[in-house]
Amino acid sequence: MDTKKVILTGDRPTGPLHLGHYVGSLQKRVELQGKYDTYILIADMQALTDNAGHPDRVRSNILEVALDYLSVGIDPGVSRIVIQSLVPELAELTMYYLNLVTVARLQRNPTVKAEMKQKDFGANVPAGFLIYPVSQAADITAFRADLVPVGEDQLPMIEQTKEIVQSFNRTYGPVLVEPEALVPKVSRLPGTDGQNKMSKSIGNAIFLSDPTDVVATKVKGMYTDPKHVHAKDPGTVEGNPVFSYLEAFDPDAGEVKAMEQSYREGGLGDVKVKGRLIEVLEAFLAPIRRRRSEFAGDAAGVMRILTEGTLKGRTVAARTLGAVREAMHLDYYTEGRR
Ligand code: TRP
Repeated sequence: MDTKKVILTGDRPTGPLHLGHYVGSLQKRVELQGKYDTYILIADMQALTDNAGHPDRVRSNILEVALDYLSVGIDPGVSRIVIQSLVPELAELTMYYLNLVTVARLQRNPTVKAEMKQKDFGANVPAGFLIYPVSQAADITAFRADLVPVGEDQLPMIEQTKEIVQSFNRTYGPVLVEPEALVPKVSRLPGTDGQNKMSKSIGNAIFLSDPTDVVATKVKGMYTDPKHVHAKDPGTVEGNPVFSYLEAFDPDAGEVKAMEQSYREGGLGDVKVKGRLIEVLEAFLAPIRRRRSEFAGDAAGVMRILTEGTLKGRTVAARTLGAVREAMHLDYYTEGRR
Protein backbone atom coordinates (compact mmCIF):
# COMPACT_ATOMS: atom_id res chain seq x y z
CA MET A 1 0.00 0.00 0.00
CA ASP A 2 1.35 3.37 -1.02
CA THR A 3 1.49 5.68 1.97
CA LYS A 4 2.98 8.69 0.23
CA LYS A 5 1.00 11.88 0.41
CA VAL A 6 -0.61 13.05 -2.80
CA ILE A 7 -0.07 16.11 -4.97
CA LEU A 8 -2.59 17.11 -7.60
CA THR A 9 -2.31 20.21 -9.69
CA GLY A 10 -2.92 21.22 -13.26
CA ASP A 11 -3.14 23.74 -16.06
CA ARG A 12 -5.60 24.68 -18.74
CA PRO A 13 -4.29 23.81 -22.18
CA THR A 14 -5.07 27.16 -23.76
CA GLY A 15 -1.51 28.10 -24.73
CA PRO A 16 2.12 27.41 -23.98
CA LEU A 17 3.29 27.72 -20.38
CA HIS A 18 5.48 30.67 -19.42
CA LEU A 19 8.02 31.75 -16.82
CA GLY A 20 5.18 32.75 -14.48
CA HIS A 21 3.89 29.17 -14.49
CA TYR A 22 7.39 27.98 -13.70
CA VAL A 23 7.85 30.27 -10.71
CA GLY A 24 4.28 29.85 -9.51
CA SER A 25 3.99 26.07 -9.63
CA LEU A 26 6.11 24.01 -12.05
CA GLN A 27 9.29 24.44 -10.03
CA LYS A 28 7.60 23.08 -6.90
CA ARG A 29 6.15 20.11 -8.78
CA VAL A 30 9.57 19.12 -10.07
CA GLU A 31 11.10 19.56 -6.63
CA LEU A 32 8.43 17.49 -4.85
CA GLN A 33 7.60 14.80 -7.40
CA GLY A 34 9.84 12.18 -5.75
CA LYS A 35 8.41 12.81 -2.29
CA TYR A 36 4.71 12.80 -3.18
CA ASP A 37 2.50 10.70 -5.35
CA THR A 38 2.15 13.32 -8.06
CA TYR A 39 -0.71 13.81 -10.53
CA ILE A 40 -0.68 16.64 -13.02
CA LEU A 41 -3.90 17.37 -14.81
CA ILE A 42 -4.15 18.84 -18.28
CA ALA A 43 -7.48 20.51 -17.63
CA ASP A 44 -9.09 20.49 -21.07
CA MET A 45 -12.65 20.48 -19.72
CA GLN A 46 -11.84 23.58 -17.69
CA ALA A 47 -10.19 25.17 -20.75
CA LEU A 48 -13.44 24.67 -22.67
CA THR A 49 -15.39 26.70 -20.11
CA ASP A 50 -14.21 29.82 -21.90
CA ASN A 51 -13.20 28.23 -25.20
CA ALA A 52 -16.37 26.45 -26.21
CA GLY A 53 -15.95 27.69 -29.76
CA HIS A 54 -12.29 26.68 -29.98
CA PRO A 55 -11.98 22.96 -29.28
CA ASP A 56 -9.04 22.70 -31.69
CA ARG A 57 -7.11 25.32 -29.75
CA VAL A 58 -7.56 23.17 -26.64
CA ARG A 59 -6.70 19.99 -28.48
CA SER A 60 -3.47 21.28 -30.00
CA ASN A 61 -2.30 22.68 -26.70
CA ILE A 62 -2.55 19.36 -24.90
CA LEU A 63 0.67 18.18 -26.53
CA GLU A 64 2.28 21.61 -26.05
CA VAL A 65 1.55 21.64 -22.33
CA ALA A 66 2.72 18.04 -21.98
CA LEU A 67 5.99 19.04 -23.68
CA ASP A 68 6.29 22.01 -21.33
CA TYR A 69 5.95 19.66 -18.35
CA LEU A 70 8.45 17.14 -19.63
CA SER A 71 10.96 19.79 -20.69
CA VAL A 72 11.11 21.46 -17.26
CA GLY A 73 11.81 18.12 -15.63
CA ILE A 74 8.50 16.48 -14.77
CA ASP A 75 9.60 12.84 -14.77
CA PRO A 76 7.02 10.56 -16.38
CA GLY A 77 8.52 7.64 -14.50
CA VAL A 78 7.44 9.30 -11.26
CA SER A 79 4.62 11.77 -11.99
CA ARG A 80 1.39 10.96 -13.80
CA ILE A 81 0.15 13.35 -16.44
CA VAL A 82 -3.62 13.01 -16.78
CA ILE A 83 -5.98 14.36 -19.44
CA GLN A 84 -9.04 15.66 -17.61
CA SER A 85 -11.79 14.89 -20.12
CA LEU A 86 -10.68 11.26 -20.37
CA VAL A 87 -11.60 10.86 -16.70
CA PRO A 88 -15.43 11.20 -16.85
CA GLU A 89 -15.59 10.37 -13.12
CA LEU A 90 -14.56 14.02 -12.60
CA ALA A 91 -17.68 15.25 -14.38
CA GLU A 92 -19.89 13.00 -12.27
CA LEU A 93 -18.30 14.20 -9.04
CA THR A 94 -18.83 17.78 -10.20
CA MET A 95 -22.57 17.13 -10.55
CA TYR A 96 -22.85 15.88 -6.97
CA TYR A 97 -20.73 18.72 -5.55
CA LEU A 98 -22.76 21.38 -7.35
CA ASN A 99 -25.61 20.74 -4.92
CA LEU A 100 -23.36 21.68 -2.02
CA VAL A 101 -22.51 25.15 -3.38
CA THR A 102 -24.69 28.20 -3.81
CA VAL A 103 -24.74 30.38 -6.91
CA ALA A 104 -24.06 33.38 -4.67
CA ARG A 105 -20.92 31.72 -3.30
CA LEU A 106 -19.66 31.03 -6.82
CA GLN A 107 -20.29 34.63 -7.82
CA ARG A 108 -18.18 35.77 -4.88
CA ASN A 109 -15.08 33.73 -5.88
CA PRO A 110 -12.52 36.53 -6.41
CA THR A 111 -10.55 34.77 -9.16
CA VAL A 112 -13.68 33.93 -11.13
CA LYS A 113 -14.88 37.50 -10.64
CA ALA A 114 -11.62 38.94 -11.95
CA GLU A 115 -11.57 36.58 -14.92
CA MET A 116 -15.18 37.36 -15.84
CA LYS A 117 -14.27 41.01 -15.96
CA GLN A 118 -11.10 40.41 -17.96
CA LYS A 119 -12.96 38.24 -20.47
CA ASP A 120 -15.71 40.79 -20.90
CA PHE A 121 -18.54 38.25 -20.64
CA GLY A 122 -21.00 40.93 -19.52
CA ALA A 123 -24.37 39.21 -19.04
CA ASN A 124 -23.25 36.20 -21.08
CA VAL A 125 -21.23 34.23 -18.56
CA PRO A 126 -21.16 30.56 -19.61
CA ALA A 127 -22.65 28.50 -16.77
CA GLY A 128 -19.73 26.11 -17.07
CA PHE A 129 -17.33 28.96 -16.46
CA LEU A 130 -19.11 30.10 -13.31
CA ILE A 131 -18.97 26.61 -11.84
CA TYR A 132 -15.42 25.67 -12.83
CA PRO A 133 -14.23 26.01 -9.21
CA VAL A 134 -16.55 23.09 -8.42
CA SER A 135 -15.07 21.00 -11.19
CA GLN A 136 -11.66 21.93 -9.82
CA ALA A 137 -12.78 20.66 -6.41
CA ALA A 138 -13.68 17.40 -8.17
CA ASP A 139 -10.18 17.26 -9.69
CA ILE A 140 -8.51 17.78 -6.36
CA THR A 141 -10.68 15.45 -4.29
CA ALA A 142 -10.88 12.65 -6.88
CA PHE A 143 -7.15 12.16 -6.49
CA ARG A 144 -7.38 12.49 -2.69
CA ALA A 145 -4.82 15.29 -2.88
CA ASP A 146 -3.19 16.48 0.33
CA LEU A 147 -1.24 19.23 -1.35
CA VAL A 148 -1.98 21.48 -4.34
CA PRO A 149 1.02 23.48 -5.60
CA VAL A 150 -0.43 26.55 -7.29
CA GLY A 151 0.13 30.24 -7.87
CA GLU A 152 -1.49 32.78 -5.60
CA ASP A 153 -4.43 33.37 -7.95
CA GLN A 154 -5.62 29.81 -7.33
CA LEU A 155 -6.02 30.20 -3.56
CA PRO A 156 -9.76 30.93 -3.84
CA MET A 157 -10.17 27.59 -5.64
CA ILE A 158 -8.53 25.68 -2.81
CA GLU A 159 -10.65 27.62 -0.31
CA GLN A 160 -13.79 26.67 -2.18
CA THR A 161 -12.63 23.04 -2.40
CA LYS A 162 -12.17 22.92 1.37
CA GLU A 163 -15.70 24.20 1.87
CA ILE A 164 -17.07 21.53 -0.44
CA VAL A 165 -15.08 18.81 1.33
CA GLN A 166 -16.37 19.96 4.72
CA SER A 167 -19.92 20.15 3.50
CA PHE A 168 -19.72 16.73 1.84
CA ASN A 169 -18.15 15.04 4.85
CA ARG A 170 -20.68 16.64 7.21
CA THR A 171 -23.62 15.64 5.04
CA TYR A 172 -22.65 12.16 3.85
CA GLY A 173 -19.79 10.98 6.07
CA PRO A 174 -16.01 11.41 6.15
CA VAL A 175 -14.97 10.37 2.65
CA LEU A 176 -13.09 13.30 1.11
CA VAL A 177 -9.60 14.56 1.93
CA GLU A 178 -9.23 18.26 2.72
CA PRO A 179 -6.36 19.70 0.66
CA GLU A 180 -3.82 22.39 1.45
CA ALA A 181 -2.49 24.87 -1.09
CA LEU A 182 1.24 25.20 -1.53
CA VAL A 183 2.14 28.67 -2.74
CA PRO A 184 5.84 29.45 -3.19
CA LYS A 185 7.35 32.52 -1.53
CA VAL A 186 7.67 34.35 -4.81
CA SER A 187 4.61 33.14 -6.61
CA ARG A 188 3.59 35.99 -8.83
CA LEU A 189 5.95 36.97 -11.59
CA PRO A 190 5.10 40.31 -13.21
CA GLY A 191 4.68 40.46 -16.98
CA THR A 192 7.25 42.13 -19.22
CA ASP A 193 5.02 45.23 -19.03
CA GLY A 194 5.56 45.39 -15.26
CA GLN A 195 1.89 46.24 -14.77
CA ASN A 196 0.12 42.90 -14.64
CA LYS A 197 0.96 39.35 -13.74
CA MET A 198 2.46 37.36 -16.60
CA SER A 199 -0.33 36.17 -18.84
CA LYS A 200 -0.65 34.90 -22.38
CA SER A 201 -3.84 36.85 -22.98
CA ILE A 202 -2.24 40.18 -22.04
CA GLY A 203 0.75 39.53 -24.32
CA ASN A 204 3.36 40.18 -21.64
CA ALA A 205 4.70 36.64 -21.26
CA ILE A 206 8.00 34.93 -21.94
CA PHE A 207 7.23 31.31 -22.82
CA LEU A 208 9.30 28.31 -21.79
CA SER A 209 9.37 27.39 -25.48
CA ASP A 210 10.45 30.82 -26.79
CA PRO A 211 13.61 30.65 -28.93
CA THR A 212 16.74 32.64 -27.99
CA ASP A 213 16.09 35.63 -30.28
CA VAL A 214 12.47 35.99 -29.14
CA VAL A 215 13.53 36.01 -25.49
CA ALA A 216 16.17 38.67 -26.23
CA THR A 217 13.66 40.86 -28.08
CA LYS A 218 11.12 40.54 -25.27
CA VAL A 219 13.69 41.39 -22.60
CA LYS A 220 14.95 44.41 -24.55
CA GLY A 221 11.38 45.67 -24.76
CA MET A 222 10.70 45.20 -21.06
CA TYR A 223 9.32 47.94 -18.88
CA THR A 224 11.79 49.40 -16.39
CA ASP A 225 11.78 52.47 -14.15
CA PRO A 226 10.57 55.23 -16.53
CA LYS A 227 12.41 57.86 -14.46
CA HIS A 228 15.71 56.07 -14.98
CA VAL A 229 16.58 57.80 -18.25
CA HIS A 230 20.39 57.88 -18.17
CA ALA A 231 22.66 55.24 -16.71
CA LYS A 232 23.91 57.74 -14.13
CA ASP A 233 20.40 58.48 -12.79
CA PRO A 234 19.33 56.69 -9.62
CA GLY A 235 16.72 54.04 -10.44
CA THR A 236 13.99 52.10 -8.65
CA VAL A 237 14.25 48.36 -8.20
CA GLU A 238 10.83 47.78 -6.61
CA GLY A 239 8.21 47.09 -9.24
CA ASN A 240 10.92 46.87 -11.90
CA PRO A 241 10.25 43.53 -13.60
CA VAL A 242 13.83 43.15 -14.89
CA PHE A 243 14.98 42.83 -11.30
CA SER A 244 12.04 40.59 -10.36
CA TYR A 245 13.15 38.16 -13.07
CA LEU A 246 16.80 38.36 -11.97
CA GLU A 247 15.73 37.60 -8.41
CA ALA A 248 13.75 34.60 -9.63
CA PHE A 249 16.22 33.13 -12.14
CA ASP A 250 19.77 34.38 -11.48
CA PRO A 251 21.58 31.71 -9.45
CA ASP A 252 24.02 34.36 -8.18
CA ALA A 253 21.90 36.19 -5.58
CA GLY A 254 24.91 38.21 -4.37
CA GLU A 255 25.50 39.62 -7.83
CA VAL A 256 21.82 40.58 -8.12
CA LYS A 257 21.99 42.40 -4.78
CA ALA A 258 25.09 44.29 -5.94
CA MET A 259 23.42 45.26 -9.22
CA GLU A 260 20.34 46.44 -7.36
CA GLN A 261 22.43 48.62 -5.10
CA SER A 262 24.31 50.24 -7.94
CA TYR A 263 21.05 50.74 -9.89
CA ARG A 264 19.56 52.53 -6.90
CA GLU A 265 22.63 54.71 -6.46
CA GLY A 266 22.88 55.53 -10.14
CA GLY A 267 25.53 54.38 -12.58
CA LEU A 268 24.00 51.18 -13.89
CA GLY A 269 22.15 51.37 -17.20
CA ASP A 270 19.07 49.40 -18.25
CA VAL A 271 20.93 47.98 -21.26
CA LYS A 272 23.45 46.33 -18.97
CA VAL A 273 20.86 44.93 -16.59
CA LYS A 274 18.83 43.59 -19.48
CA GLY A 275 21.98 42.07 -21.00
CA ARG A 276 22.54 40.18 -17.79
CA LEU A 277 18.91 39.01 -17.74
CA ILE A 278 19.18 37.75 -21.33
CA GLU A 279 22.22 35.67 -20.33
CA VAL A 280 20.52 34.35 -17.20
CA LEU A 281 17.34 33.36 -19.05
CA GLU A 282 19.34 31.75 -21.84
CA ALA A 283 21.21 29.61 -19.30
CA PHE A 284 17.88 28.63 -17.73
CA LEU A 285 15.99 27.98 -20.96
CA ALA A 286 18.66 26.27 -23.09
CA PRO A 287 18.45 22.86 -21.37
CA ILE A 288 14.64 23.15 -21.29
CA ARG A 289 14.61 23.75 -25.06
CA ARG A 290 16.93 20.79 -25.57
CA ARG A 291 14.71 18.40 -23.63
CA ARG A 292 11.66 19.79 -25.35
CA SER A 293 12.98 19.04 -28.80
CA GLU A 294 13.96 15.52 -27.72
CA PHE A 295 10.43 14.77 -26.52
CA ALA A 296 8.86 16.61 -29.47
CA GLY A 297 10.75 14.26 -31.78
CA ASP A 298 8.93 11.35 -30.17
CA ALA A 299 5.26 12.38 -30.26
CA ALA A 300 4.16 8.75 -30.00
CA GLY A 301 6.21 8.37 -26.83
CA VAL A 302 4.58 11.47 -25.34
CA MET A 303 1.14 10.13 -26.22
CA ARG A 304 2.07 6.91 -24.45
CA ILE A 305 3.04 8.89 -21.34
CA LEU A 306 -0.35 10.65 -21.44
CA THR A 307 -2.26 7.42 -22.01
CA GLU A 308 -0.57 5.64 -19.12
CA GLY A 309 -0.91 8.61 -16.77
CA THR A 310 -4.58 9.01 -17.67
CA LEU A 311 -5.29 5.32 -17.15
CA LYS A 312 -3.74 5.37 -13.70
CA GLY A 313 -5.57 8.63 -12.90
CA ARG A 314 -8.85 7.11 -13.94
CA THR A 315 -8.37 4.16 -11.60
CA VAL A 316 -7.82 6.48 -8.64
CA ALA A 317 -10.76 8.75 -9.54
CA ALA A 318 -13.07 5.74 -10.00
CA ARG A 319 -12.18 4.52 -6.53
CA THR A 320 -13.06 7.91 -5.02
CA LEU A 321 -16.28 8.09 -7.01
CA GLY A 322 -17.24 4.64 -5.70
CA ALA A 323 -16.75 5.81 -2.12
CA VAL A 324 -18.70 8.99 -2.85
CA ARG A 325 -21.64 7.11 -4.35
CA GLU A 326 -21.68 4.73 -1.45
CA ALA A 327 -21.64 7.55 1.10
CA MET A 328 -24.52 9.20 -0.77
CA HIS A 329 -26.45 5.90 -0.79
CA LEU A 330 -26.40 5.84 -4.58
CA ASP A 331 -24.91 2.35 -4.69
CA TYR A 332 -28.29 0.88 -5.60
CA TYR A 333 -27.10 -2.38 -7.07
CA THR A 334 -24.11 -3.18 -4.92
CA GLU A 335 -25.52 -2.26 -1.50
CA GLY A 336 -25.68 -5.25 0.83
CA ARG A 337 -23.51 -7.31 -1.48
CA ARG A 338 -20.26 -6.07 0.04
N1 TRP B 1 -7.41 26.48 -12.59
C1 TRP B 1 -6.09 26.08 -12.96
C2 TRP B 1 -5.54 27.14 -13.93
O1 TRP B 1 -6.18 28.10 -14.22
C3 TRP B 1 -6.03 24.73 -13.65
C4 TRP B 1 -6.54 23.58 -12.82
C5 TRP B 1 -7.57 22.74 -13.15
C6 TRP B 1 -6.07 23.15 -11.55
N2 TRP B 1 -7.75 21.82 -12.22
C7 TRP B 1 -6.87 22.00 -11.21
C8 TRP B 1 -5.06 23.58 -10.68
C9 TRP B 1 -6.68 21.35 -10.01
C10 TRP B 1 -4.89 22.90 -9.48
C11 TRP B 1 -5.69 21.79 -9.14
O2 TRP B 1 -4.44 26.99 -14.42
